[in-house]
Amino acid sequence: MKLRNLLLAMAFSTGSAAMAQDYTVTVQANKPGAVVQPTMYGIFFEDINFAADGGLYGELLKNRSFEFTPDHLMGWQAFGKVEIKNDGPFDRNPHYARLTTMNHNDWWTGLQNEGYFGIGVERDHEYRFSLYARVPDGKTQMLRVQLVEPYTNREHQEFCQQDIKVTSTDWQKYTVILKPNHTADKAQLRLLMCEENGRSGRGTVDVEHISLFPVDTWKGHENGMRKDLAQALADMKPGVFRFPGGCIVEGVTLDNRYNWKNSVGPVENRPLNKNRWECTFTYRYYPDYFQSYGLGFYEFFLLSEEIGAEPLPVLNVGMACQFQNGEDAHAPATEEGLKEFIDDCLDLIEFANGTTDTKWGKLRAEMGHPAPFNMKLLAIGNEQWAEPYFKRVKIVADAVRKAHPEIKIIGTSGPDAEGHNFEIGWEAMKRQKADLVDEHFYRPISWFKNEWNRYDKYDRKGPKVFAGEYACHDRGKKYNHAGASIYEAAFITGIERNADIVHMATYAPLFSHVDGWQWRPDMIWYDNLRVAKSASYWVQALFAQNKGTNVLPIQQTNFPKKGEDGVLTSAVWDKDKGEVIVKVANTLEQAKTVKIQLAGLKSIASASAITLDLSNYDQENTVEQPNLIEPKESEVKTQGNTIETTIPAKTFVVFKAKK
Ligand code: AHR
Repeated sequence: MKLRNLLLAMAFSTGSAAMAQDYTVTVQANKPGAVVQPTMYGIFFEDINFAADGGLYGELLKNRSFEFTPDHLMGWQAFGKVEIKNDGPFDRNPHYARLTTMNHNDWWTGLQNEGYFGIGVERDHEYRFSLYARVPDGKTQMLRVQLVEPYTNREHQEFCQQDIKVTSTDWQKYTVILKPNHTADKAQLRLLMCEENGRSGRGTVDVEHISLFPVDTWKGHENGMRKDLAQALADMKPGVFRFPGGCIVEGVTLDNRYNWKNSVGPVENRPLNKNRWECTFTYRYYPDYFQSYGLGFYEFFLLSEEIGAEPLPVLNVGMACQFQNGEDAHAPATEEGLKEFIDDCLDLIEFANGTTDTKWGKLRAEMGHPAPFNMKLLAIGNEQWAEPYFKRVKIVADAVRKAHPEIKIIGTSGPDAEGHNFEIGWEAMKRQKADLVDEHFYRPISWFKNEWNRYDKYDRKGPKVFAGEYACHDRGKKYNHAGASIYEAAFITGIERNADIVHMATYAPLFSHVDGWQWRPDMIWYDNLRVAKSASYWVQALFAQNKGTNVLPIQQTNFPKKGEDGVLTSAVWDKDKGEVIVKVANTLEQAKTVKIQLAGLKSIASASAITLDLSNYDQENTVEQPNLIEPKESEVKTQGNTIETTIPAKTFVVFKAKK
């Protein structure tokens, strides 16, 4: 047993009533207080860091519809005679490729797709390849579909192949299943015009919307999500699911904003959008970062339902990113000027909740979900501030309220977590009677240490708080440090103590591809085959999985002063499980003894602890070593209604006690 594990085991088993304790925590176990909202501890999804295409969205091919610009063949290598044409079968994605014979047995025509930083496929797993194709001259043409590793020392680059015969002069969908005989994380997809005798093809064939998905997606949906990543979300037991951002809601310009209406209906005809994160940080530039909208609002509502999280859409308020634009970039602050944005809100509510005889409710039903999604929340605007926002959000929110008083409206207090714009933002949201206010804090450790009591002083009569984007950053915005995550845990105890006012909290950003990030730290990292849940993931997950149903009042000795390290605690009652749950975060460099007394309880029947060791400052889980930091469960000895324990340095522990 390693020394630290030995100490941990001792910490939870050597209670002694006589020991002088560094901290005493008295929990009023028989006085359940404010309800912990079911929306607590959720997820914030934004297509940054290749989180959608190349991430959660199961599509493995890049630029499947030949709509990337300025080069419609971005992501593809074309060889032989390939022409891009623009009168295809999908009016909003009109481009396709025409492949024509080279008229020589040894010259080939075809296309090769590089995927997102390569294509990850696993041995003996099935992958569904599909495309739309036609033979304009009516002469049957065979297409050979291959998984290849172009950069290999093996005899054959190809390791899996299937043939498709294109027979019709009309566009038709063709599908084959590929089952590779080996695992590759950076494969490519090759499509060759080919004759039955194995020689290069003769003739002409048009190809469009060329797609490759794992068959085994999350819940088996054809236009589905990557299973391991969706599972990581479900495992957290998130209370709320915010989508689709983030700055992507705003766009670099208004026409580049996330337009939800383009993200629903048949995937083949969802028009492409340029991803605003392509160019936001020029030191991490991705000219091939686009949004296929394949993971759109239908998929978002469905995934929310499947993982048991309340859907929280965020829509544009008629403003492009304020950081990047002057005043002229916004829609006029009048009812007429904002009509499109008001309609976006009203139509989204109809899409989510409307009956199937309404325009948008009908589309939802056609997409496979006749029952309403029961959307209850709507955020209007992301990270906007001052008068330009206040004027517009009032107009849009008033229109939504008038038509849908049942929907809770979330406004924003802007990008700062304090200061002038933050304060006037809150004041405006109070005046406008927003139900919740979204506040963001990407801040260093010193900020978190100053904010242990942040929510104690919030006005209980105003809007509730949505801590909508936050992360503890240290040593610059660069890494996932275990050493920063302990401050997130300690801070969230303050959120939990104030569950009457803080109704939702979502760490950000959520996902990041190791080869394609723009922003760090992030909650979940992945490459094409592997996943790493960060220390921050585990902190969030431990709160979400153990959120309880009601806050329990606590008194604690030696509560740290502003700016100081210390031991921070919170407690909840879980009426469904009959458990008292006490969370303890020690941000100090030394282990501390803590006595937890469950006042009002005669004795504890049994108790356990889940421990997250965050003491190795620079440690992080990586796709190569994903389990360096993970929670460990142990039993806890109790005496009557008391747990006496030692919390190791920089460690977060969740105690669960059964009556
Ligand atoms: O989470 C990354 C970005 O941070 C979000 O898009 C934005 O809202 C915030 O500035």
